[in-house]
Amino acid sequence: MTRSNTAFQRCINPDCAAEFDCMEVYFKCPRCGELLDVVYNWDKIQVPAKLSDFADRWTSRDNPLDFSGVWRFRELLDFCPDSSRVTIGEGQTILQQNDALAKQLGIRPSRLFLQYEGLNPSGSFKDNGMTAAFSHAKMVNAESSACASTGNTSASMAIYAHSCGIKCTVFIGSGRIAFGKLSQAMDYGGHTIQIRGDFDDCMLQVQAVCAKLGIYLVNSLNPFRLEGQKTIMLRIIEQLGWQVPDWIIVPGGNLGNSSSFGKAFAEMKQLGLIDRVPRMAIINAAGANTLEHLYNDKKLRWNGGNVDRKIIDDYYAELTAGGFSPHTCASAIEISRPVNLKKCLRALDVCDGVVLAVTDQEIIDAKAQIGAVGLGCEPASAATVAGLKYLIADGTVDPDQRIACVLTGHALKDPNVTVNYHKDRQGPFSNPPVEVDNDLEQIIKLIQP
Ligand code: F0G
Repeated sequence: MTRSNTAFQRCINPDCAAEFDCMEVYFKCPRCGELLDVVYNWDKIQVPAKLSDFADRWTSRDNPLDFSGVWRFRELLDFCPDSSRVTIGEGQTILQQNDALAKQLGIRPSRLFLQYEGLNPSGSFKDNGMTAAFSHAKMVNAESSACASTGNTSASMAIYAHSCGIKCTVFIGSGRIAFGKLSQAMDYGGHTIQIRGDFDDCMLQVQAVCAKLGIYLVNSLNPFRLEGQKTIMLRIIEQLGWQVPDWIIVPGGNLGNSSSFGKAFAEMKQLGLIDRVPRMAIINAAGANTLEHLYNDKKLRWNGGNVDRKIIDDYYAELTAGGFSPHTCASAIEISRPVNLKKCLRALDVCDGVVLAVTDQEIIDAKAQIGAVGLGCEPASAATVAGLKYLIADGTVDPDQRIACVLTGHALKDPNVTVNYHKDRQGPFSNPPVEVDNDLEQIIKLIQP
């Protein structure tokens, strides 16, 4: 049996359910155009009897695969041989119990946790997925890769592509990318193409280009990428002493994270590794609220895989007719046609999920609150805490429950939003610099009035 028999790809459309070998490279089902999943033959994989068995890998962390916060859980994403696995030390991230922030939000001590994915090598959670995507790219001997990006995917792609000798091209929307991220894509040698349009335009173009030129696509349409992102949930469970939290709160953009988290929990439950699945809250920005609108107003549901496509098509036609382009200061999630929408609906079904949208003001206020308690994050990440305030206020989340917010990216990704918030006194948590003459007495007076 070849190694790839441990896993295969399957179309998520139950009426199609076409299956493909992992050596075949598709980013949508070639038969019906739906998304693909990576599915495992669990009986051919030596999955540990309990999650805590993964802790043994810590003793052999001189092996880079055991050091990696993704690959140390490799039995749960066993789609390629060790020789293809690429790692640059991703996933060394911390779940920080933050009682100071909990207090501000009216949550009991030891109940609020922040999963700080900004600690990844490229500064965002994307590295969890990119290590998996590039391992697959290596397995299938890809020579060139590409992505559309609001910034973080491009930074992560560029760093991994060059660490394994694969060329890469980035598609970004003109003026739609935060400064820190653009600097990374350029500095890591990504061939950067700015399209006069938004992320959704870039996403369409990159798919066409990849199909035409046979380039390996690393957006979250890529099912192998999502396999890596499952490990964010494993690390949260690991850091809670192998216990499952009550709530996972995650920002929603292209909806790759939420999709992969739902898949992780469904698989762990199926394998008997966890006895219950946490609830999930997905937070959109109000200016890019497709999921929130379709889920809450239009009642769009997974429905066993029979998603009502007409609701989606009608809404997208409305957006097109109105010339709508999404707008939010959280540029990472400025997306109106999320490619993983259907998988995300499945995750919401698995996790008894809720969806809400928060304003830019709520996002930047929450970002400053998170910063002031010791963890810097970018605006999209702060949508989690902004959303949590609503969930506590309306009683959806009990302040006694254990809550994990996924802080997806580092504060330095988007310094402009931070500087403007403080300097221009944009909210109650602004902390602008105080100017003073070059005079010792006056300086001391400012510090000790
Ligand atoms: N948070 C950050 C910091 C992101 O960069 C993104 C997505 C998200 C949240 C949304 O995650 O797509 O899984 O729902 N950024 C992509 C990019 C789109 O191109 O960097 P999602």
